[in-house]
Amino acid sequence: MRNHSIPTILIRLSLIFTLLLPSASPAPRSSLTRRSFLSVEDDSDILVSQDKSFACGFYEVGSNAFTFSIWFSKSKPETVVWTANRDNPVNGHGSRVTMRKDGSVVLTDYDDTVVWSTNTGSPQAHAQLLDTGNLVVKDPDGTVLWQSFDYPTDTLLPNQALNQNSRLVSAAAAGSLSSGHYKSYFDSNNMLILMYDTPEFASVYWPDPALAQWDTGRSTYNSSRSAVLDDMGQFVSSDNLAFKASDWGTAIIRRLTLDYDGNLRLYSWDESTKTWSISGVALSSVCQVHSLCGRNGICVYTPTPQCTCPPGFEVNDPSDWSKGCKRQYSIDCHKPHQAEFLELPHTNFWGSDFNFTPSLSIRACRKICKTDCSCEAFGYNQETGECYPKIELHNGKSYPGPDGTIFLKLPRSVNTSKLSSRLQGHKPVCSVKEVDIGKDIRRKSSRGKNWAYFYWFASAFFVIELLFIIFGWWFIFRREKQSAPMEEGYRAMSTQFRRFTFKELKIATRNFQEELGRGGSGAVYKGVLDDDRVAAVKKLEDVIQGEEEFHAELSLIGRIYHMNLVRMWGFCSERSHRLLVSEFVEKGSLDKILFHGDGLANFLRWSERFKIAVGVAKGLAYLHHECLEWVIHCDVKPENILLGHDFEPKIADFGLAKLLNRGGSLENLSRIQGTRGYIAPEWASSLPITGKVDVYSYGVVLLELVKGARVSDWIIGRGEEVEMVLRRSLELLKKNLKSGQESWIGDFVDSRLDGKFNSNQALMMVEIAVCCLEEERSKRPSMKSVVQMLLLSDDELNSHAASF
Ligand SMILES: *[C@@H]1O[C@H](CO)[C@@H](O)[C@H](O)[C@H]1NC(C)=O
Ligand SMILES: *[C@@H]1O[C@H](CO)[C@@H](O)[C@H](O)[C@H]1NC(C)=O
Repeated sequence: MRNHSIPTILIRLSLIFTLLLPSASPAPRSSLTRRSFLSVEDDSDILVSQDKSFACGFYEVGSNAFTFSIWFSKSKPETVVWTANRDNPVNGHGSRVTMRKDGSVVLTDYDDTVVWSTNTGSPQAHAQLLDTGNLVVKDPDGTVLWQSFDYPTDTLLPNQALNQNSRLVSAAAAGSLSSGHYKSYFDSNNMLILMYDTPEFASVYWPDPALAQWDTGRSTYNSSRSAVLDDMGQFVSSDNLAFKASDWGTAIIRRLTLDYDGNLRLYSWDESTKTWSISGVALSSVCQVHSLCGRNGICVYTPTPQCTCPPGFEVNDPSDWSKGCKRQYSIDCHKPHQAEFLELPHTNFWGSDFNFTPSLSIRACRKICKTDCSCEAFGYNQETGECYPKIELHNGKSYPGPDGTIFLKLPRSVNTSKLSSRLQGHKPVCSVKEVDIGKDIRRKSSRGKNWAYFYWFASAFFVIELLFIIFGWWFIFRREKQSAPMEEGYRAMSTQFRRFTFKELKIATRNFQEELGRGGSGAVYKGVLDDDRVAAVKKLEDVIQGEEEFHAELSLIGRIYHMNLVRMWGFCSERSHRLLVSEFVEKGSLDKILFHGDGLANFLRWSERFKIAVGVAKGLAYLHHECLEWVIHCDVKPENILLGHDFEPKIADFGLAKLLNRGGSLENLSRIQGTRGYIAPEWASSLPITGKVDVYSYGVVLLELVKGARVSDWIIGRGEEVEMVLRRSLELLKKNLKSGQESWIGDFVDSRLDGKFNSNQALMMVEIAVCCLEEERSKRPSMKSVVQMLLLSDDELNSHAASF
């Protein structure tokens, strides 16, 4: 408390001074009338929309360089959503935006040259910034003569339509406003595309050019060419593309932005954290964007996307990968026998084929490339014999999956065995060296951060106010706009997540009639909310937390969303009642279907099992590595894996460990959390619990998915413990894996499948499970690398991951 006392005094003082000062300042204007102007020198000279969410005026883009822009003012730094002169900034002295008497809005530089104009000609017109973020020039009768919505830069706001005359152009770099090379518009086939476009090289990368048009789900016949994001968060385009935000619903501010990295992302504003969060993306992985790593560069998943150069190449400019890589060794083209090829598996350079032959032997393909001076490399498909000699290497990416091999032309003199190690496929390794995620446990305390800002702000405010008093009242007006309240409720709830009353939930569940299941933390009931959403309502038992803490903890959980995690909709906390409201997942829990599948017709097929394995891994990886607040599940088991329609898995009950046990003893933890057969050995020791306990439990679930039986049912001898059975099975599996043979896998896999399974995937799943079940937790892989390894055995899934 002692540390806090000085800032507290400062706050008090500043509050007193605030009260002493006249509170009224001139309301910022929202429109520009005839002959009035905004000047660049005065940074309070801006237009502000009536609801204050958008502002428009001069925006500093560099030293003494300004653009005329519209920005979303609630975020810090402001989010620029539109710019008039993105590639022609004006001077910091003498520049003006004027509503001329002829009715046009004109941006002039210091020397009065016109940099930009609306070219409207109606003398009675005025310009107004609307609450939607649209700057309009209109006549007194309301006729819109010009609007910024018709000239988007890199962002579409809700109800701002993209049409045949408009396009989105990305920014050149993070934090920059000037035009980059990625564009989105309707092409001549009426399709909304994303493309990389420079005078030297252009290439469309969305929809996926490798897919036939009918596989992209787009249509070309509707020539109206229009796409719009509506208030609910649905993006609909006339080419049949439709996409919903993950937080679909009203009352959320959103924007669709073509980011500088070439991905089109939908962002939702989170009022409680004052940040934008991603609620949709065009490309699930950034490596699908073309030319991201420049010429000759390769985008690799590590698993975060990174640029690298192929063997025998070096980067041109490490600070700017778009400049790509250059060859370290030149090939004397007149001596074709000097050329050699280096095989890069799981790699492709899309496009730039100078020739295409559908069925050729690899020798013949090799010869074409060897004897042609301009050939840099060739792609070859073993199965079809398709040969793609390449004249240039663009859009390189390396990805997990069986097909796609590039043969890179290099001089024979280069020792390729030295080079080739870097891009080899990723193999599962048990001893992965990684930072233990347990260290991250207190990484983000948003409360602490907010307070730090607040103290900083308060002190600054105090000093400035003193200056105000000393130097006169006039200065206050300039200052006023920056004194927006900083301490907006940390606990402000987003509209998606809310507090229910007990009565509401009683009605929704018809007095807790339909029980769906019962677990360690309480019983779950089915209910229908008043907006007709079907929900699962969980009555928690043994909550040891007070109302406040419960509330705070839940609002964190409520912010987490991922397709493989059950979405939390709200909670109830009244007297002794503690209830959680979440989405209802159709098919129920995995254990029911996997272990008790009623009859032969109803057991899980292989593809479904694999999908579940991948989905659960992704959900856990998200909890462990990606979400704002770090979460360990602590009770991964089939009962907590729910299956949606088409068997997409969703993990339930995450975050409960923390909720039920804050300050609790270890004894307490093991009582509530962890289930015999799934718990990692360290539960029994005094080691701190890390995410690796989930990895262990996941390993058990993987084995059960493959075998179709609960580990505890593998017991054969009397009095055998489940842990012993598991150890013994693991020893056997390890031996089998080491043997290099594959026939044993057929005996291990669930016999109900009748041999109908993918043995690559099965082997990979067992191999991963064995790694996950290492007793030594540092040898277990992270969930992130588990996802990566699984996808390696299945390329198809990788391409399905895209969300729109
Ligand atoms: C074409 O797309 C527009 C906009 O999405 C839609 O309103 C219209 O009905 C479509 N026309 C046809 C013939 O499908
Ligand atoms: C190439 O490099 C490897 C590894 O450094 C070495 O073992 C091998 O002898 C080298 N080959 C030639 C032909 O120099």
